[in-house]
Amino acid sequence: QGYTEEINAFNASSAEEIEAFRLRFLVNKGIVRSLFEEFKTVSTEEKRELGQVLNVFKQLAESKHKSLLEQIADNSDKAGGSTQDLTLPGKGLELGSRHPLSLVRKEIVGIFNKMGFIVAEGPEIEDDWHNFSALNFPEEHPARDMQDTFFIEKKEGNDIALRTHTSSVQVRMMENGKPPFRAIMPGRVYRNEAISARAHCFFHQVEGLYVDEDVSFADLKQTLFHFVQELYGEDTKVRFRPSYFPFTEPSAEMDISCTICKGAGCTLCKWSGWVEILGCGMVDPNVLENCGIDSKKYSGFAFGMGIERITNLKYVIKDLRLFSENDIRFLRQFETET
Ligand code: PHE
Repeated sequence: QGYTEEINAFNASSAEEIEAFRLRFLVNKGIVRSLFEEFKTVSTEEKRELGQVLNVFKQLAESKHKSLLEQIADNSDKAGGSTQDLTLPGKGLELGSRHPLSLVRKEIVGIFNKMGFIVAEGPEIEDDWHNFSALNFPEEHPARDMQDTFFIEKKEGNDIALRTHTSSVQVRMMENGKPPFRAIMPGRVYRNEAISARAHCFFHQVEGLYVDEDVSFADLKQTLFHFVQELYGEDTKVRFRPSYFPFTEPSAEMDISCTICKGAGCTLCKWSGWVEILGCGMVDPNVLENCGIDSKKYSGFAFGMGIERITNLKYVIKDLRLFSENDIRFLRQFETET
């Protein structure tokens, strides 16, 4: 009777305690066995009744042992214990790949590097002087509105804004150095535009600057012609159309023969055979002077292009938003490019 109570009250929190239980009750020299030994010595009349009691007791001891074992297995399971299947294959780490805009920027930088252009960078948060005034944008001039600016802080005569183009880096470079300059400025720029398939509030540019003695419009044309031939193939044709930028004079926009139909006419070039890819021009002498450079001695050219646009023409991407949505199905398509 006492043993039955002991078994019912028994509680184990470790495997050792369960083993102690087994050693006390269930092994060859344990209590259950010794009770059965004693049983042999009682009289036949008593055996009937006692036999039943003993069998119930034996079952109690055995089932208690079993449930103690189950309980402890259960607990270690919850604690993330030993029942994990260590032979399951692991989860692989996915490798990323270069973003298409990075691929194209790298390619553009590579082409200009070979022509002796270095890479220059500057801050994305700019002041009015570097983004506008030094670049010959008169105050209150409508050309400022052309670049829908995100202003950050109004400051007497020198507002703080997100740069609208990387021409600001050209100013910083010329202010801080001496000619000759031959550099390209890749970077992110911001414009306050409604987001759609064809416009975004930020995009990426590569601008270029070449200032030295006797730099001419012919240098500009040949440099850019060589650039697009390297990028889109030797059969690429170019044409220049007159344009206007406050910081260049004369200014032009450069078109290339459509990369898809090669000039035959398609929806990309709206059946004209030509697509616009960049703005350019001879650096306005006012800009040189604003940056402390003698405009009688030096001349230069500058150009600027949007990396998104260049990428669209290379990979035919119809929606600008894909570039910043991080959709893995889009990005995977560029995995094999280097
Ligand atoms: N800064 C101009 C733009 O963002 C591009 C440009 C650069 C045009 C240099 C001419 C010369 O639109």
